[in-house]
Amino acid sequence: MSTASTPPIDATTTPSWADLTAHQAALNPDLRAWFAQDPGRAARLTFDAADLHVDLSKNLVTDETIALLVRLAQDVDLAGRRDAMFRGDHINVTEDRAVLHTALRRPSGASPELTVDGQDVDADVHTELAKVYAFAEKVRSGEWTGVTGERVRTVVNIGIGGSDLGPVMAYEALLPYKAEDLDVRFVSNIDPTDVAEKTAGLDPRTTLFIVASKTFGTLETLTNARLARDWLWTELAAVGALEDSDEARTAAVGKHFVAVSTALDKVAAFGIDPANAFGFWDWVGGRYSVDSAIGTSLAIAIGPARFEEFLTGFHAIDEHFRTTPIEQNVPALMGLLNVWNVNFLGAHTHAVLPYAQYLHRFPAYLQQLTMESNGKSVRWDGSPVTTETGEVFWGEPGTNGQHAFYQLIHQGTRLVPADFIAVANPAHPLADTAAGDEPVDVHSLFLANFFAQTKALAFGKTADEVRAEGTAEDLVSARVFSGNRPTTSILAPALTPSVLGQLIALYEHITFVQGVVWGIDSFDQWGVELGKKLANEIAPAVTGDAAALAAQDPSTQALIGWYLEQRS
Ligand code: F6P
Repeated sequence: MSTASTPPIDATTTPSWADLTAHQAALNPDLRAWFAQDPGRAARLTFDAADLHVDLSKNLVTDETIALLVRLAQDVDLAGRRDAMFRGDHINVTEDRAVLHTALRRPSGASPELTVDGQDVDADVHTELAKVYAFAEKVRSGEWTGVTGERVRTVVNIGIGGSDLGPVMAYEALLPYKAEDLDVRFVSNIDPTDVAEKTAGLDPRTTLFIVASKTFGTLETLTNARLARDWLWTELAAVGALEDSDEARTAAVGKHFVAVSTALDKVAAFGIDPANAFGFWDWVGGRYSVDSAIGTSLAIAIGPARFEEFLTGFHAIDEHFRTTPIEQNVPALMGLLNVWNVNFLGAHTHAVLPYAQYLHRFPAYLQQLTMESNGKSVRWDGSPVTTETGEVFWGEPGTNGQHAFYQLIHQGTRLVPADFIAVANPAHPLADTAAGDEPVDVHSLFLANFFAQTKALAFGKTADEVRAEGTAEDLVSARVFSGNRPTTSILAPALTPSVLGQLIALYEHITFVQGVVWGIDSFDQWGVELGKKLANEIAPAVTGDAAALAAQDPSTQALIGWYLEQRS
């Protein structure tokens, strides 16, 4: 039976919520004591999901907390909602759509077959993937050429939001796997600086643009695509590679532009041959689309075999999430812990701190995934939420963050739960041979920081410990660390394509779990619409239409007026 449009269960009225409230009121978190009294705590609260080794033991929870959170999951029918998602029910209620990013990574021949709304989902996914892979191979091998017959050296992905953040994050994360003779650049911002900077120094003869847009109606992307097309025509002409004719210009677009979209009619209207377009479906949310054709730039960079490994990683976590009891289900437990931190401990933000330089765009990627999904004030039936929802996700790679904002996490007045992510084997196992008598493995030094930070946050430093170091009494309080600052440690063997897929799927499902508890539709994004509409309405005022300017509110009018005065 479909659970898609069933009204959400109000988590705050469930018995488990009441019990969690009472439990929190009586709880006096003390990680020092909890670990001292319970030698099995770390092992009991550490779980493996595919290649991910996840230690939850430094969170402010006891076994009872976990048991109550598992009961909460049962009370809101998390398993039922999860199964509805995997089955293809229309759980994106406000857009009346299935939510099937998990279908993008089902291996071919997976059983049982997945037919949703009359669509043979597996067949369509694998047909489209085969097209993407064939194209990627052509670009990588040099079979695909530009107008002068030269092979592609630079791919420029033009997209924004989910059509940019996933591909750029994954490209940066998997740089060691990229073809040496190919680079990818990413244009997203409608600030003309972006397209200008990203095309700077490129040879038009060897440049391929991918216009990536689910809707093919996004102002930023279409504007940037037109700017890029002008750039191509101008620069090809400048090197004598373009005749001054419409036919030649159309042919150049055919050789240097491809598209990824669910709206192939609009792709054709832009002038891109639909034969050079890769599709996906409206049941893939933009922020859940890096593993669809939206990842074409990545597939070109790392090659189809590595892209396939990437998908395998996602699928491994999907299977873990789909089949593991909640008590050991890592995405479920992490999502429930986030609910605990937000709704019972009062956390407003959540830091994601990768100790892996290649993951430097991961927090930015997660911002869209989590905040566009769960930044909602009404539930999927339109009723107001009954508790706080989406926390602010943010972060920077360690150790850079240590020298910037960790002060607040260690000693500030706010509770900032944090996920620490690291891999055991680095892409560059460099040794510092000049630091001392023995060479120092720099990655181990790096990870010493990872382990030290989570330890310091959990256990802190007491006033007596500070005094024992000989600190003057008037400085003691400034040097005390309260501890009891919750962290989750996520370790993986190495940052492979599979592990990256696993990490992304992990956070996709964490986000889903939180949305289910809060009763919200984590797959719509109506909150981005008003600003887009107003930008279109205000554009004439900014470009000199006096009547449009007069129609603005006094503040906006004055700001635009000042801007117009400044423009030279
Ligand atoms: O920011 C709103 C949004 O609709 C995102 O959800 C989406 O990822 C982004 O715009 C880009 O949309 P499109 O891929 O349709 O250009």
